[in-house]
Amino acid sequence: MAEIVVVENKRAGGELVASTIRRLIEAKADTVLGLATGSTPLPVYAALAQSLRKDPMDVSRVRGFALDEYVGLPAGHSESYRTVITRDVVRPLGLTPANIYVPNGDTTSLEHAGSDYERALEAAGGVDLQILGIGRTGHLGFNEPGSSFASLTRVKTLAPKSRADNARFFASPDDVPMHCITQGLGTIRRARHLVLLAFGAEKAAAIHAAVEGPVTASQPGSAIQLHEHVTVVLDEPAAAELSNLDYYRYIWANKPVWQGI
Ligand code: GLP
Repeated sequence: MAEIVVVENKRAGGELVASTIRRLIEAKADTVLGLATGSTPLPVYAALAQSLRKDPMDVSRVRGFALDEYVGLPAGHSESYRTVITRDVVRPLGLTPANIYVPNGDTTSLEHAGSDYERALEAAGGVDLQILGIGRTGHLGFNEPGSSFASLTRVKTLAPKSRADNARFFASPDDVPMHCITQGLGTIRRARHLVLLAFGAEKAAAIHAAVEGPVTASQPGSAIQLHEHVTVVLDEPAAAELSNLDYYRYIWANKPVWQGI
């Protein structure tokens, strides 16, 4: 079962995950982090950056793999996930840019961009800790409902709801790319530890489906139920539709401290 942790607010969630990542890097200097975009993981990156400022450590060998990228945005576009990861993660944390991988959304090499990315992930030894957000459609990365649990990195079409949700980052809704390249659910499931975060009432239904719903391709988030090490970090509104919430709280409250997440 996924471990459910209900935190007071985003900031507390960010600090919890950041401290776990810090311990991971202390144990393995070339840790491979799975990096998510979107607003959800920002408190994790902010807390980690703050912790590294307060108590510096060598992160020069840490590697990072982004979950997804838009197809067809010009290089350096302010909303390409390469740009976003550089701005929100690489620079604030002081990571080595050459150690950061983002799927290649350039339209000239799409035919092999997915398999290239899978090869790079494999050569790195796989992801140690994958940070995940979840879309209102239940998507992980950009694996929209219907995505196979065995899928690998490939080009997909964005669901209308996801394009509408991401329109806030673009000048007009029509500017949101129609296609993306995303790690598959099969790729994501290979990561050794999945940490799914969700904040706010608009994520409550997707979280309920991911954690307690049937395992079905119609709810890509439910793929987490097939993984042996999953932590789901939620604020109260995002946890509100979970039926077994009291039980999850009880488990967390009685967890041996040495176990971490
Ligand atoms: C985005 C990303 C996902 C992210 C999700 C939720 O478009 N492709 O990786 O988890 O949608 O975004 P947010 O965290 O902003 O709600």
